[in-house]
This record gives sequence, structure tokens and C-alpha cells, in this order.
Amino acid sequence: MNGRSHPIEHADEPLLWVLRDELGLTGTHYGCGIGACGCCTVLVAGEPVRSCQVTAASVGERPVTTMEGLAERGPDGQVTALHPVQQAFLETPLQCGWCLPGHILCAVALLNRNPAPDEAAIAEAAQPNLCRCGGYNTIKAAVARAAELARSS
Ligand code: FES
Ligand code: FES
Repeated sequence: MNGRSHPIEHADEPLLWVLRDELGLTGTHYGCGIGACGCCTVLVAGEPVRSCQVTAASVGERPVTTMEGLAERGPDGQVTALHPVQQAFLETPLQCGWCLPGHILCAVALLNRNPAPDEAAIAEAAQPNLCRCGGYNTIKAAVARAAELARSS
């Protein structure tokens, strides 16, 4: 989990609830609980997975990345540099932000496999995630900005 191993007490529970309730990683959001909205997305071995739809046991020892694992941190655990995708979304005015874990982690996965995505690739990566505030165009602009930041860093 974000580069560290954790023994899990409730491994047969959905990963979402293990993250939030057992590990205190509340950057992963609950939206629908039925795999429809995407706001519970985490990366498992680098690929977006809806954490409400898998148990922690099914993930096993594969690496999991959550919102909390994106920034660089110093030895004391304090954030020293945001991930370019976090930085781009921080600069982007959105509304409630509840959908952002899904959009941000899907953008991270996209940029890891395609550092220079075109508009179609950005739209395809964003498409599985719902934004009830209707911020799709703003979100796609943030991903394009994140790609610029990542390439220049
Ligand atoms: S809470 Fe998991 S997809 Fe909506
Ligand atoms: S900004 Fe509110 S759900 Fe996307």
C-alpha cells in the first residue's frame, strides 16, 4: 500500500472499506458502491481498479496506490512535492471534488503509459468516471495541463 506493507484484519471486505476504515486512507471516496461512478478508484499494479468491487484479499500482495501515495514525501512523511496530476488539479477550479480520486488516478495511469496523450486519449481515460457536477471539460483540461507539467519536470 503506497510502498509499504500492511497486515489486513478484514481482508474479505471490499478494498474501499479496508482503505478508509482500517487504514484511515480517506482519499479514496465512496460514491455508489456498485462499480458505476469510479470515485473509489485506486491503482493496483498500476492499473485503475474500483475498490468497492474487489476484496482486499483478492488484491493480495500486488502494489496499491491511492491518492495518499502520489506525492513525494520526506523521511518525516511530510509532502515535499505534489505529483504533476495533483498539481494540475490543484490549479483547476472544480466544484465539490468528490469524483477526483477516480479522475486523478486514471490520469496518473494514462500518463504512465502515454506521456503525451491527445484529446481523444484524455477523453477516453476520463470517460469511465462520473462527475455529478458536470466538470468534464475542466477535468480534461486539467489532465492536459498535468501532461505538460509531467513532461517539464
Ligand atoms: S463507489 Fe465504487 S464505483 Fe462508485
Ligand atoms: S466536481 Fe463534484 S462530482 Fe466532480
